[in-house]
Amino acid sequence: MFVVVGVSGGIAAYKTVHLVRALVTNGHEVHVIPTEDALRFVGTTTWEAVSRHPVTTSVHDDVAEVRHVALGTRADLVIVAPATANTLAKMATGIADNLLGVTLLATTAPVLVAPAMHTAMWEHPATTANIETLRGRGVHVVGPADGPLTGGDSGPGRMSEPEEILAAALALVPERSDLAGLTVAVSTGGTREAIDPVRFLGNRSSGRQGVDVALAAADRGAQVRLVAAHVEDGILTAVAHHPRITVERVSTAADLRAAMHASTGDADVAVMVAAVADFRVDAVSDEKIRKEDGDGTATLRLVANPDILAELVAARRDGQTIVGFAAETATDEAELVERGKRKRARKGVDLLAVNRVDWARGFEAAENAVVVLDDGDAVVAEVAGSKRAVADALWDAVIAHRAR
Ligand code: CTP
Repeated sequence: MFVVVGVSGGIAAYKTVHLVRALVTNGHEVHVIPTEDALRFVGTTTWEAVSRHPVTTSVHDDVAEVRHVALGTRADLVIVAPATANTLAKMATGIADNLLGVTLLATTAPVLVAPAMHTAMWEHPATTANIETLRGRGVHVVGPADGPLTGGDSGPGRMSEPEEILAAALALVPERSDLAGLTVAVSTGGTREAIDPVRFLGNRSSGRQGVDVALAAADRGAQVRLVAAHVEDGILTAVAHHPRITVERVSTAADLRAAMHASTGDADVAVMVAAVADFRVDAVSDEKIRKEDGDGTATLRLVANPDILAELVAARRDGQTIVGFAAETATDEAELVERGKRKRARKGVDLLAVNRVDWARGFEAAENAVVVLDDGDAVVAEVAGSKRAVADALWDAVIAHRAR
């Protein structure tokens, strides 16, 4: 899920680093929003490194993507840890003079706060009243714990431990388990076809969409076999520690074909998200091709690769659902759907997710837009948003299709 972690200025911020790490390790997409004061305790570099996303404190950064509203509206859950007396007071009155304040006003997601402050501040009637106001508004509170404080004295005010905050947070958003009991195979990334020992034919696929398809399925209870061709750096860290995902790395279309046949055999669902090279080099040179050996031109003879998706369809067992992706260039939605229908019929898949690509859209981007066609040529889903949102909509369509 999409988690926003707000950090206000308290020494306990160092413990929040572990909380963010644990969330990321569990496969969640985490965006950290520190206050300016929080950065005195733990800096931007640390937050960016552990969350793997850019971090900003200001409402005025990334205005074009309306970041101040975007994070709040996309969030499935917001955690504020540590929540200082000052931040709690601002939350209680709706003050939005920084990115965290704005995000808290923009979100409709559950909010969990983990207060941290000196006992006297925690017990002050102002703080008590603010906590009461927040609770009345549905904000959840974890801690504070009773114990030694930074000043050497002891009492209630210590921020709860990261594991405790994590458990409290996850309990607020019941994980969906509508794919529990299913085994799914997903391919992702772009294949590379060798030309010679140092060169290849490749494509711009980042692998992100397929990784999100795998993550969404695993978060919803499925056992996932992810077959990953070449992907952007760092993309696989999100799946590396997921308890229900295994990853197999491949390079060429031939490797991917073998891995997908092996993974799909006894699986319930197969989703081909990978950008598979349609052609490979007919005669791969054992030696590096040298300019001086030629006459200023070079010719590569290409031969068609087998269509893996069509093969999976041909080998489909009873009860197996086969899903394809199609990247299409089209001038409008109607043309996109028409092309999609033809491709769906040609491939014989149960569902085809069609997305529009051009030089700026689809590949390498964080956002995606797809229409999902079923085997009756109906548009069963239309979704634009994060690749994770696209993935969840696709799984909804798979579930609906399997229920038929
Ligand atoms: N695919 C495949 N094997 C191939 C080529 C593509 O399994 N050799 C799969 C992709 O993973 C995707 C779907 O087929 O799920 C559609 O890929 P796309 O490139 O859009 O279709 P092509 O069949 O290659 O058709 P064309 O390039 O002519 O549009």
